[in-house]
Amino acid sequence: MKIGVLGGGAMGAGIAQVAAQAGHQVVLVDIQEEQLSKAMDNLKKGLNKLVEKGKFTQEQSHQIVESIQTSTSTNAFAGCGLIIEAIVEKLEVKQSVFQQLDALLDESVILATNTSSLSVTAIASVCQHPERVIGLHFFNPATIMPLVEIIPAIQTAENLPQQLKDMMISWKKVPVVAKDWPGFIVNRVARPYYSEALRIYDEGLASQPEIDAAMRQAGFKMGPFELMDLIGHDVNYTVTESVFASFYFDPRFKPSITQKKLLEARWLGRKTGRGFYTYPDGCPDVELNDNKAREIQNRILCMLINEACDAHYLGLASEDDIDLAMTKGVNYPKGLFLWGKEWGFEKVNESLQFLMSQYQDDRYRSSNGLKNRI
Ligand code: NAI
Repeated sequence: MKIGVLGGGAMGAGIAQVAAQAGHQVVLVDIQEEQLSKAMDNLKKGLNKLVEKGKFTQEQSHQIVESIQTSTSTNAFAGCGLIIEAIVEKLEVKQSVFQQLDALLDESVILATNTSSLSVTAIASVCQHPERVIGLHFFNPATIMPLVEIIPAIQTAENLPQQLKDMMISWKKVPVVAKDWPGFIVNRVARPYYSEALRIYDEGLASQPEIDAAMRQAGFKMGPFELMDLIGHDVNYTVTESVFASFYFDPRFKPSITQKKLLEARWLGRKTGRGFYTYPDGCPDVELNDNKAREIQNRILCMLINEACDAHYLGLASEDDIDLAMTKGVNYPKGLFLWGKEWGFEKVNESLQFLMSQYQDDRYRSSNGLKNRI
């Protein structure tokens, strides 16, 4: 099947490469010619490195590049069976593009969006054939991160998730299916990793390097503050705000004023040389007392496990898919259900009840999904 990718930015270029590596002919379309040449230059550079490492032969790398055709017109999508849209994250822009694609392409062509936070259902709503619209959410960088969240809108044809699941497996990806709810799996379940760390810091219980060190000690590749600096506060804060608003201001998802200040100062993290830390130095080494480390780990992990239980309880995805999503999309050292089983859900619930009694704040309420496991 010929694959179309709309948008040649960071995500679109990566998705085009993944499809080409899986043996498809690919058409990459962007409104800006220079974005397309930049995308192809980067792709060639990336492939050269892989050839040096022995992952591909020169011949294979050449074949991958040759199988990607670029264009500034969506007319080049003629003959494609699947289009993956990866343009700007704005609902009106995506809706207008989907309306055009829907009118242009035969109804058998699948229209997928790589949106990370918008409603797939709202994007599908502008199409004459909304049943062919689905979310296909890759993680950054798309060539490296294995996870793909498949998100059927409420209008999506019933057989489509399985069809795309099979295709993603053939692309050597790890697909999980999630309901079209705010943040899908990863961007929702991961929220406490940032927000609880910020609360602990705001309350003066630990410094940022201490919190980062504690979470690294728990097995995470990066602590919450260094990770937020890497993601960029413009992106990370905006996702938190959007999830908070989409859940009708549930206090569990409340954004942090401390993080908002960084955004206001345009201290966006690594990309601007300053965020919580200054770069290139980054997070300094600190001595960490064992009790403090345990307290930090306990608070953040209990909130994460509770969120995973709540997502499952409300039918967002299966336990296995939630665990896969967190390990294959954001490199968690362990799935949260597995972690909950090892720690004991009872202990997680007790910790949350203690926090609830201490703070009288609804953000610490235990989900029924957690209580049902006791
Ligand atoms: P980007 O800004 O790097 O690239 C967007 C590209 O779309 C640009 O090259 C732009 O010229 C092009 N474009 C804009 N309007 C267009 C149109 N009407 N027709 C054709 N091309 C158009 O953005 P990025 O980071 O690649 O994100 C793309 C999408 O993927 C967004 O929906 C984003 O939320 C989502 N996403 C981003 C992730 C990330 O970490 N950057 C991770 C997962 C999803």
